[in-house]
Amino acid sequence: MRIAVVGTGYVGLVTGTCFAEVGIDVTCIDIDQKKIENLKNGILPIYEPGLEEMVVRNAQKERLSFSTDLGTSIQGSDVAFIAVGTPPGEDGSADLKYVLAVARAIGQNMTDYIVVVTKSTVPVGTAKKVREAIEQELEARGVNIAFDVASNPEFLKEGAAIDDFLKPDRIVVGVSSKRAEEVMSKLYKPFLMNGHPLIFMDIPSAEMTKYAANAMLATKISFMNDIANLCEIMGADVNMVRKGIGSDARIGNKFIYPGIGYGGSCFPKDVKALIKTAHENGYDMRVLKSVEEVNENQKSVLFNKINNHFNGDLAGKTFAIWGLSFKPKTDDMREAPSLVIIEKLLAKGAKVRAYDPVAMKEASHTLGDTIEYGKDEYETLIDADALLLVTEWPEFRSPNFTVVSKLLKEKVIFDGRNIYDAADMQDKGFTYYGIGLKQQVAQVNEAI
Ligand code: UDX
Repeated sequence: MRIAVVGTGYVGLVTGTCFAEVGIDVTCIDIDQKKIENLKNGILPIYEPGLEEMVVRNAQKERLSFSTDLGTSIQGSDVAFIAVGTPPGEDGSADLKYVLAVARAIGQNMTDYIVVVTKSTVPVGTAKKVREAIEQELEARGVNIAFDVASNPEFLKEGAAIDDFLKPDRIVVGVSSKRAEEVMSKLYKPFLMNGHPLIFMDIPSAEMTKYAANAMLATKISFMNDIANLCEIMGADVNMVRKGIGSDARIGNKFIYPGIGYGGSCFPKDVKALIKTAHENGYDMRVLKSVEEVNENQKSVLFNKINNHFNGDLAGKTFAIWGLSFKPKTDDMREAPSLVIIEKLLAKGAKVRAYDPVAMKEASHTLGDTIEYGKDEYETLIDADALLLVTEWPEFRSPNFTVVSKLLKEKVIFDGRNIYDAADMQDKGFTYYGIGLKQQVAQVNEAI
């Protein structure tokens, strides 16, 4: 089989590379000439564990190629994936201009039957717009070429995207013809080895599935953050509560970790877009509106604890921050809670010295020289007034605490991800703050 993947961002690049990995002939297309040149030289626009090696290997085997020429690349392809960006417009709805521009370009260039698949996260009803855009172009050319449109949402997690793609929990495909179903079945056959299902459905249901999945996960997180805040007030320990409820299979033990709010490119954007779509169609997503509100509030919880601990006097103090990206194993800074915490600290006249294993370059695009960047995690601690654990990178899990306490001016740790054990930290002589923990009952009322 031959496929074209349009858009070499995160989703497009992982999709194209993983299809090449199982032996499919893939061309990845982008209008950004520099990006394509870089990819040809093995330079990737994003960091994702294992992806670079896989790109280089498949390019060498000539199963994966890169091009700016959409026209030639889709001719002879069985499937064209649209994986371009859908940035949120000012009102929170997904902007479809790039998706529809690709659809028009496909209509202008296609010569044979092709299945055009939306892979970008797009609102319900987008596949219909894609179909119309292609039809208009074919009409303008005065040709009649059969094609199908399909919706194939992705469920990749940054940092684990390759595994998620090669061993998916499920693959969801929305189709409206038997012919498209057959093409997509053939394409995905190599990924069904572990017995997980390929689920075919109608197109609007597939489009909705993506939003419903992300909205449900965001809801779990906001719910647990709310429970964590209440635990602090009531003298309960959210770690215990989490274990207690997570062993109920109906609830499950995943995505119930409280923290400093969800970030990234998906949850914030998709929750907003679903609220907006519902509103436009006369429906009020009350649960999701609260999910969003709780999340915004949660990004300030760590700062409030810091402010409270230092009695509001942060001017001239230095804070060491471990982790900047919105989660570990990525350099993605989109909607990262670290940005909110840093902004609040700087506004109070504090200094910030941060270290992140991969995201410092990306973070510097937003933060510039408003903060200092450490060469490793220990350097950030020199004469700092407290340590803030913001992103739970594995290398921060068991630092040398003797060194930590020697370097810090005051032995205080604010742990936004509950990665350290509170009792252990107290034994080691630290004043330790986590999220939703029991011993914080005295400080908590003002902090929330
Ligand atoms: C998410 C979805 O998981 C994925 O299926 C979809 O395709 C894209 O969006 P991603 O944004 O890469 O993936 O990250 P994920 O690991 O899901 O984490 C999202 C956010 O939730 C992070 O900010 C993370 O810190 C937070 N989170 C996650 C919690 O606060 N608590 C949890 O228990 C789990």
